[in-house]
Amino acid sequence: MAYIAVLGHGTVGSGVAEVLFTHAESISRRAGEDIKIKYILDIRDFPDLSYSELFTKDFDVILNDPDISTVVEVMGGLHPAYDFVKACLEKGKNVVTSNKELVAAKGAELLSIARKNNLNFLFEASVGGGVPIIRPISTCLAANEVSEIAGILNGTTNFILTKMIREQMSFATALKLAQDLGYAERNPAADIEGHDACRKICILASLTFGSHVYPDSCYTEGITKITLADVDYAESWGGVIKLIGSVKMQENGKIQIKVCPMFVSRESQLGNVDDVFNGIMVRGDATGDVVFYGKGAGKLPTASAVVADVIDCVKQQTSRKFLYWEDAKADFVDDYKNGETQMFVRCKGANISEAFDAAYKVFGELRELSRKNPEEGEAAFVTPMMTEYQLEEKLAALKALGVETLSTIRVSDY
Ligand code: HSE
Repeated sequence: MAYIAVLGHGTVGSGVAEVLFTHAESISRRAGEDIKIKYILDIRDFPDLSYSELFTKDFDVILNDPDISTVVEVMGGLHPAYDFVKACLEKGKNVVTSNKELVAAKGAELLSIARKNNLNFLFEASVGGGVPIIRPISTCLAANEVSEIAGILNGTTNFILTKMIREQMSFATALKLAQDLGYAERNPAADIEGHDACRKICILASLTFGSHVYPDSCYTEGITKITLADVDYAESWGGVIKLIGSVKMQENGKIQIKVCPMFVSRESQLGNVDDVFNGIMVRGDATGDVVFYGKGAGKLPTASAVVADVIDCVKQQTSRKFLYWEDAKADFVDDYKNGETQMFVRCKGANISEAFDAAYKVFGELRELSRKNPEEGEAAFVTPMMTEYQLEEKLAALKALGVETLSTIRVSDY
């Protein structure tokens, strides 16, 4: 019998309990022994559950119980999750977490403690929810040099954008719906401002390139400024707007990493990843592009990834530990403004022809876009490929010609 403890009984924690209770038999068969939850830690009371007797408010009871070989951390947030996880690893307990904030901020340190103590620290659920991505990158694709990863990594924003695109639903109504469905973070700013996707791409970058990439080194832009006008222009371009997290290894040995809304062609696989689904494209030198697709948020998809990690911990008490990366290397992350992109620009002049005249003067060539019922003086276009520094200069030149930029969205080539 393997005894585990679950820290947190929110959306994911209750899902973990549900999966472990309902699939007990098949899980035992796969793990090679029964897995039993001995404690659930939560500051709230749950008197009406059939397993109410498992709850404790005292973390030390769990820490000091030698029966507990694996601890599941599904509380979210950095504190006290970090303190609890670190204490468990130092005490000789394997840890499984779905907490991307924790892994993105403290992954290198926690992996190093786990390695020193010959323990597993696993976090499949931290990226992609129910979509397997951590294990495939670290094992199945291990023979490849991965040069680039690009993905729709946040279910809530993808759900909101899909509702805006398909149903012209307002941003606020779609966000409320996502929260009601249990997709959103406790603080939805983490979703809509892009921080959740940022943590996830940082985890994938750290895992892929072996050096910790901290979230504050990743340029991050959310979806709060996206309007239905931008959605219309994306459609006239032949695509949709998606929040994309991307990382790319460059020839100079530095990575370009960012999270931002992008125009994505409807012909690309990522352009067809809708609703709460995540899609992650991994570009390997031997495999070419491999795309992972599935539900990136929600109680049971995420719990499924957590419980699979628990099964691994139980099966592999004395072996494995393949996840590892070093602490950050200096200058590993390149200035995002050195990166090249095409940009969608929506702008406004005294009238549409003056706006386009100015845009041609500044950019030389453009791809003009149109939509039904544009605002007076509104012009929209896609620029040629250039660095973000060059773009910044050109947008300043456009402003000097009396044309105000209303929005800019990067254009992907995925
Ligand atoms: N809020 C996250 C999302 C949950 O919407 O993707 C899963 O990480």
